[in-house]
Amino acid sequence: MCGIFAYLNYQVPRTRKEVFDTLVKGLQRLEYRGYDSAGIAVDSPGKTTNKDANSNICLIKKKGKVKALDEALYNGDSMDLQEELETHFGIAHTRWATHGEPSPINSHPHRSDKNNEFVVIHNGIITNYKELKKYLNSKGYKFESETDTEVIPKLIKYVYDNREKEHLSFSTLVERVIQQLEGAFALVFKSSHFPGEAVATRRGSPLLIGVRSQFELPSEHIPIQYNSARIQEGVQERNSRNKTDSVVEQQEVVGGKAVEYYFASDASAIIEHTNKVIYLEDDDIAAVIKGNLSLHRMNRQTGDSPSRAIQTLQMELQQIMKGNFEAFMQKEIFEQPESVVNTMRGRISFDGSKVILGGLKDHLKEIKRCRRLIMIGCGTSFHAAVATRQILEELTELPVMVELASDFLDRYTPVFRDDVCFFISQSGETADTLMALRYCKDRGALTVGITNTVGSSISRETDCGVHINAGPEIGVASTKAYTSQFVAIIMFGLMMSEDRISMQKRREEIIIGLKDLPDMIKKVLELDGKIKGIAQELYQQKSLLVMGRGFNYATCLEGALKIKEITYMHSEGILAGELKHGPLALIDKDMPVIMVIMRDACYTKCQNALQQVTARQGRPILICSEDDPETIKYAYQTIGLPHTVDCLQGVLSVIPLQLMSFHLAVLRGFDVDCPRNLAKSVTVE
Ligand code: AGP
Repeated sequence: MCGIFAYLNYQVPRTRKEVFDTLVKGLQRLEYRGYDSAGIAVDSPGKTTNKDANSNICLIKKKGKVKALDEALYNGDSMDLQEELETHFGIAHTRWATHGEPSPINSHPHRSDKNNEFVVIHNGIITNYKELKKYLNSKGYKFESETDTEVIPKLIKYVYDNREKEHLSFSTLVERVIQQLEGAFALVFKSSHFPGEAVATRRGSPLLIGVRSQFELPSEHIPIQYNSARIQEGVQERNSRNKTDSVVEQQEVVGGKAVEYYFASDASAIIEHTNKVIYLEDDDIAAVIKGNLSLHRMNRQTGDSPSRAIQTLQMELQQIMKGNFEAFMQKEIFEQPESVVNTMRGRISFDGSKVILGGLKDHLKEIKRCRRLIMIGCGTSFHAAVATRQILEELTELPVMVELASDFLDRYTPVFRDDVCFFISQSGETADTLMALRYCKDRGALTVGITNTVGSSISRETDCGVHINAGPEIGVASTKAYTSQFVAIIMFGLMMSEDRISMQKRREEIIIGLKDLPDMIKKVLELDGKIKGIAQELYQQKSLLVMGRGFNYATCLEGALKIKEITYMHSEGILAGELKHGPLALIDKDMPVIMVIMRDACYTKCQNALQQVTARQGRPILICSEDDPETIKYAYQTIGLPHTVDCLQGVLSVIPLQLMSFHLAVLRGFDVDCPRNLAKSVTVE
């Protein structure tokens, strides 16, 4: 969690106000990653106006959303906003608290000392911070925050202070620091000892660099310089690979002329400036000196590419703007007719009933030989696995396990070489899912990623995969990613069953269903007004139960998650088959209940559950087929849906619950896109 953003302009004059605006806009784009406090570090204005005369860098940090920081930047009277900065480097951070409550002192950037000699922004968690803090305390370094991050600026200052006569470049200092860090991090450093220079690095947390220059970029690939640094005396050596002593000096690779660099946790913060980006890999260290960007890392590792490509982002700015919608979540719900098309685009031949997922085709034989499929994810991504498990079992005739990543790891679940493990994740960065992926890789299983984020850790670390192409999802509550994950997994099932004669009829009906899906989603979205009306009746309730079974059970889990996540109402997704084993006790005339009853193999059983609810004076709101008078006659309220093939019905039945949660949250006065205590990317275990 947390969003990091930094901006370096080299020989591109920008006023201080322009620099502030760029930093703040960058943070606003990343605010979905964390929004309990924010801060920036920039060069201090002329020393006469600077409160701290010893410092060349000033920090401004605020509790609350980026807006509070933005206001603070313009309230101070010591800043000449029109001052022109020919070359400048500023760093910025929006936080989701893990260590220490949200407060200015716990906000990033964190600093090495009162003079702000080194300042750093961090996304991730340093797991060995206590040991490092103890060591640094023993050397006289004083800490001011409760965060894990603060050990990083203190440690770099320690390395700097103890360099003796050795000349150490900024990136070498950083390299020596990250040798001592355990856990996950994306880091950007600024220092008063290296004015106009930037150093960034990552391990386990995402980081990319955008490059904008009016000059042609010299290369499409940036070579990596492999080097290693001396281990600082007194700090324990952690990595036996790092033993040689030669430090490779920087080489000019990109830039050098007028150039701007943007460092960010994800592409949405960069796209309005440039579409040329470099995704850093774990342990890469990127350094900018005099406008030149170079990349280097410790000794080469097996399978490591010797260069990083400058990639062209396909994303459009418009994709990350709210447009006429009240919230990103609402926009993303309404994008679903297009996002599911984008998931299928170029992959399904509707005439020939053929499905080709390019990222899997080379592994298909191996997958077909496997002993079982395991689908692993968290939250909504886990629900996409629950939603598609049954059809996958049917189409592949393989046992399919669905697993919550955290529980999967807690159980040390046995995994074998002939297992195929799917890692489902919108962000591709969820720590539990990523850990489960590494766990399965270590045991020799084939790993498959189902992600929405190109260049994410999960998409890079899996053996093969499917990109769901739903487009950027900004709202913390996942909506269009769910329906696209759903469709992508079904396409996988179709691809697996292509040569099974007995499956052809079933495959054809599903493929026709997929073709009609976008139009059906549009019809469901037309129910928005009606759903808003129902939300107006419900929004003051404390609790909301959602029941269903079979292909629609996942809809209940996902609907309940949406409701609790953004409305803060208690909500529970209940398997209708479990009703009489406990939940029925909750039912009376006052308990709001939504029941999903579609015309599928579970229809009669769902009707029984409906009878049990109405017999206890329950007043169910029914999500059912629009042409089902038998069900509708028992409804207190009805949300009638178009009918599609059973295994795709969940794509339609979840949408009323997405809309319902949105309207409930608005009516209850909550920030739909930034629910309290949550963040979009959960990069901590
Ligand atoms: C969904 O609305 C949630 N915000 C959350 O459950 C999310 O799906 C979960 O954290 C997994 O995220 P991922 O898909 O990016 O891995």
